[in-house]
Amino acid sequence: ARPARVRLIEVGPRDGLQNEPVPIPVETKLALVERLAAAGLPVVEAGSFVSARRVPQMAGSAELYRRLKRRPGTAYPALVPNLQGLAAALDAGVTEAALFISASEGFSQRNIACSMAESLVRLAPVAGEAANHRVRLRGYVSCVLGCPYDGAVAPETVAEMAERLLDLGCDEVSLGDTIGIGTADGVRRLLEAVARRIPRERIAMHFHDTYGQGVANVLTSLDEGIAAFDCSVAGLGGCPFAAGATGNVATEDVLYLLDGLGIETGIDLRSVAETGAWISAQLGRDVASRAGRALLS
Ligand code: HMG
Ligand code: MG
Repeated sequence: ARPARVRLIEVGPRDGLQNEPVPIPVETKLALVERLAAAGLPVVEAGSFVSARRVPQMAGSAELYRRLKRRPGTAYPALVPNLQGLAAALDAGVTEAALFISASEGFSQRNIACSMAESLVRLAPVAGEAANHRVRLRGYVSCVLGCPYDGAVAPETVAEMAERLLDLGCDEVSLGDTIGIGTADGVRRLLEAVARRIPRERIAMHFHDTYGQGVANVLTSLDEGIAAFDCSVAGLGGCPFAAGATGNVATEDVLYLLDGLGIETGIDLRSVAETGAWISAQLGRDVASRAGRALLS
């Protein structure tokens, strides 16, 4: 059955901006995060503490977290790959972190330069240290519906990796269709396999909209009882150096669906759409959200 209430996790300031080639001023990122929180997004992933050589755009994350005006009740998790990243995040005042691994070896090697097994070993002390500092942990598994390097990924592998993240102390695992290739039946099969191992309440879905399947995949997940979704304002994201890659399913599009279904979110769609138009203008991009464009036209 579909949930009556859904929690949306805004990842635009991190997943959406991390591939932007031109440096974005920290003031712009701060305004984005603060506007999204003001629109009612309960979780805004605001940055990552990764190698600046690998992801230059996220290098300002420490400054962003130091200057961020937090709203009571809003969570601002940051991506953390290792102990070095966690130390920097703690130093900047981060209180919620996201660990990330892959369900495929090819992507694991390219993204975090280690195997799937090594990634779990590497994260164990990170999770321990996070617990010592009472940092809440979220987990990501990438390539859950296919890998750009290895092709098909077995749902059982995803289930196994998701369970490992819960074992490490994550209270939610976000299943990432990193390259947006999944379609409805694959989503259903994936969720059936994962839900055999972990409770549905601990699963979030993270769809990229590369093939235009984001909203359909959200609806399919809702019907499978999932009540948490990652999304990106204005559909921000996409690597300018990888042909066809796009951002996450747009927050506005997901909100339009949820509003239409009478599912509560506590988020104001129009404010999100206005923020989406504003940030897209700042980046010199078209709004990638259909609902966002329609609402403001
Ligand atoms: P490594 O490649 O194994 O190398 O790093 P290393 O550990 O030997 O470190 C290499 C360099 O990075 C060194 O600097 C370190 O000091 C530095 P150098 O000596 O070359 O000047 N370094 C760091 N700097 C800052 N913060 C740190 C840190 N750690 C090392 N925490 C590592 C491994 C994972 C750090 C690296 O490969 C990395 O940063 N990768 C980037 C991963 C990333 O950010 N990917 C994008 C986010 S994941 C994603 O988008 C998917 C998701 O959206 C879900 C989905 O869609 O599927 C979440
Ligand atoms: Mg992603």
